[in-house]
Amino acid sequence: MTTQIKDLAHYKELYKQSVENPEQFWDKEAQTFTWFEQYDKVCEWNFTEPKVKWFINGKMNISYDCLDRHLPDKADQVAILWEPNEPTDQATSYTYQELHDEVCKCANALKNFGIGKGDRVIIYMPMLAELAIVLLACSRIGAVHSVVYCGFSAQAIADRTDDAQAKMIICSDYNKRGHKNIPVKAVVDEAMNIGCNSVETVLVHKNTGGEVNWSDDVDRWWHDEVPNQSPFCAAEEMDAEDLHFILYTSGSTGKPKGVVHTCGGYMVYSCFTFRNVFQYKPGDIYWCSADIGWITGHSYIVYGPLLAGASSLMFEGVPTYPDAGRFWEVCEKYKVNQFYTAPTAIRALMAHGDSFPAKYDLSSIKVLGSVGEPINEEAWHWYNDKVGKGKAPIVDTYFQTENGGIMITPFPGITDTKPTYASYPMPGIQPILVDKDGKEIKENNVEGLLCIKHPWPSILRTTYGDHERCRQTYFSTFKNLYFTGDGARRDEEGRLRIIGRVDDVINVSGHRMGTAEVENAINEHPSVIESAVVGYPHPIKGQGIYAYVISVDKELNDEFRKEINAVVAREIGPIAKPDVIQFVTGLPKTRSGKIMRRVLRKIASNEADKIGDLTTLRNPEVVESIKQGVLV
Ligand code: PRX
Repeated sequence: MTTQIKDLAHYKELYKQSVENPEQFWDKEAQTFTWFEQYDKVCEWNFTEPKVKWFINGKMNISYDCLDRHLPDKADQVAILWEPNEPTDQATSYTYQELHDEVCKCANALKNFGIGKGDRVIIYMPMLAELAIVLLACSRIGAVHSVVYCGFSAQAIADRTDDAQAKMIICSDYNKRGHKNIPVKAVVDEAMNIGCNSVETVLVHKNTGGEVNWSDDVDRWWHDEVPNQSPFCAAEEMDAEDLHFILYTSGSTGKPKGVVHTCGGYMVYSCFTFRNVFQYKPGDIYWCSADIGWITGHSYIVYGPLLAGASSLMFEGVPTYPDAGRFWEVCEKYKVNQFYTAPTAIRALMAHGDSFPAKYDLSSIKVLGSVGEPINEEAWHWYNDKVGKGKAPIVDTYFQTENGGIMITPFPGITDTKPTYASYPMPGIQPILVDKDGKEIKENNVEGLLCIKHPWPSILRTTYGDHERCRQTYFSTFKNLYFTGDGARRDEEGRLRIIGRVDDVINVSGHRMGTAEVENAINEHPSVIESAVVGYPHPIKGQGIYAYVISVDKELNDEFRKEINAVVAREIGPIAKPDVIQFVTGLPKTRSGKIMRRVLRKIASNEADKIGDLTTLRNPEVVESIKQGVLV
């Protein structure tokens, strides 16, 4: 088992070791896992190509370490607890032995469909235990999973499937979320109609049993294919640098890119961070309310907890169903010890008042986690006081899809916590702040651009099928540094506070979105000539989406707004629908034709008085007209 930090002196000591001799440090941690064949070298890297390799020539299998390794002493311990959307429906759980058996059955079924090492599998499923089983089954046979968040559109599935050239899609029939019963298979059917030519099989898990369309050529039922398989399936021997999974995420330009993680480094880092950030102790019940469609769910519902032999709770539903006490009811029901969620959920629940958390016994909670976006001070205090009763330290954890695991965080009971500060780097993480010329800012009490100096085991290796894009996006802005795209502040004592993205990426309810991606979707409406999208402060979502739209042949009314929203939902998914659409006659542009988003951001944020210098604009008159028509 990876090292668990005991106290502040231990953290400082480990941190020092990890910086002075990263190879030795990670070698020691890696040795706590199963290597079918030992690696010959811990790390090789350069940030120019970039090329990063960890645990070179080591052979392993992450599903083996998540499951088989625990069987001698934890076969009967609960691995996954599953709480349904309907509180009255049957909850289920899987012991490590049961999970092992289900994973093997699913892995054997995948093999029967001709899926093997290196094949890509797209997964489009709601938060069912089967989703975790599928991830582990892919890992077991060396297939590369790519989970597509179950709220994305058919177009988004098709784009990702085509980019990954996936051989298979695994989905459910329907998704129960709050009051809704959302068709899932129907979205996959549509995706298959518009693309997905590489797909040979669609494996469908029956969740609600609702009606679905069926194509005998490709569609196969899970219940016909999986349960009758053998519960034994040897774990494929994987090279530490073989592809483990692809997860698509938005950037400032173009379509989402496929962030690639590999097997060995991800295994070591996800487990190490899980154990230390949550200070998980045997017998604890840990709950991360994220969706497995995002990196948080990969690393902190499935891989990190299972690698650490923990009991991880999965929840199918939403925080406000049947009412805004659901999270707390579930915490009480399972006596949850570590609870991990997003600021957007905290803000939404806070808006329902204090009575909900007050109704439940939350005394089991030892650690509260926050992830995905900056947590504002008010939400931090509410979480701390009303949920944690001042007794459960908040770990405000910072990381990105590209990082694989938590990078900056407080350590509960070990370091202090300060509202809105993600605080301290994990051992092995060397964050620095630079100015816009890439010069390191060494003093404290400063703001700068957040970069990382040295690779850690689960840094992304490439963007799928386009290594140049990876280089360009993360490694070309500043020489020899990984650039996060975030701005950060460092206080007098060296704690870090993440301010937010400095590029054209916005964070809406913790969902990462590229403004260009939303603009491209809006522009698909035949009556839209041009659009510009920016983020603006939103009380619940953190950031909302504000779209400026030019059209000449339409009546500029709510009907048209609805049509635009429908196009965005079709192209990306409902989560990308603009909160505000303002029709404009022109967009502020520089002489070279670039939209000056700074101006649009200020107007959308109700700070038109702080727009600043407009002398480089080709059409400054347009700014006044946009200000007049502002609509927040
Ligand atoms: O801007 C940062 C923000 O979320 C971005 C990464 O988004 P994604 O890849 O979707 O991963 C989210 C879940 C790990 C970052 O560039 N972010 C993430 N965590 C925090 C945060 N901003 C402030 N505080 C955090 N704790």
